[in-house]
Amino acid sequence: MEVKWRGPLDDAELVELVHSHGGRAEPGWWDRIRLHSLGWVTAREDDGTLVGFANVAWDGGDHAFLLDPKTRGDRQRTGVGTQVVALAAEQAKAAGCEWLHVDFDEELAPFYLDACGFTPTPAGLIRLAERG
Ligand SMILES: CC(C)(COP(=O)(O)OP(=O)(O)OC[C@H]1O[C@@H](n2cnc3c(N)ncnc32)[C@H](O)[C@@H]1OP(=O)(O)O)[C@@H](O)C(=O)NCCC(=O)NCCS
Repeated sequence: MEVKWRGPLDDAELVELVHSHGGRAEPGWWDRIRLHSLGWVTAREDDGTLVGFANVAWDGGDHAFLLDPKTRGDRQRTGVGTQVVALAAEQAKAAGCEWLHVDFDEELAPFYLDACGFTPTPAGLIRLAERG
């Protein structure tokens, strides 16, 4: 497996990756958001198949944000996600960021806190779509 920063990646591959783990994909999503990305990580098998992805957004300064890590359905729990996040953190640091943020559902705490090394911290969120 090869894990790369800002490697080639097209929208159709991401749609297929999301379908592979039973997610709901939105065609055009990657083409739309990649312009706002500090960088992204791809993990590919030797035959080129995309098995892992994560996006890193940023504020242009100290803060980077880990978004949308995804591992191919039949490759989950084989260490792909951990390697993808490790490279995302390494490259955010190389870009001069001091902090890498993430938020997640409670059930994924073992992945983010134990496997990837994030520290729990108070944080806040507003669901803007439901705000009057
Ligand atoms: C979350 C996700 C990216 C993890 O990727 P992964 O490649 O399976 O993770 P790893 O194999 O590196 O997992 C390392 C460890 O993290 C923990 N972990 C991983 N997935 C977990 C899960 N779903 N529930 C609880 N712990 C989990 C385990 O301790 C695991 O070690 P183990 O397999 O020896 O028990 C993957 O489950 C995924 O793509 N999910 C669907 C999309 C999604 O929900 N993304 C996150 C959005 S916040």
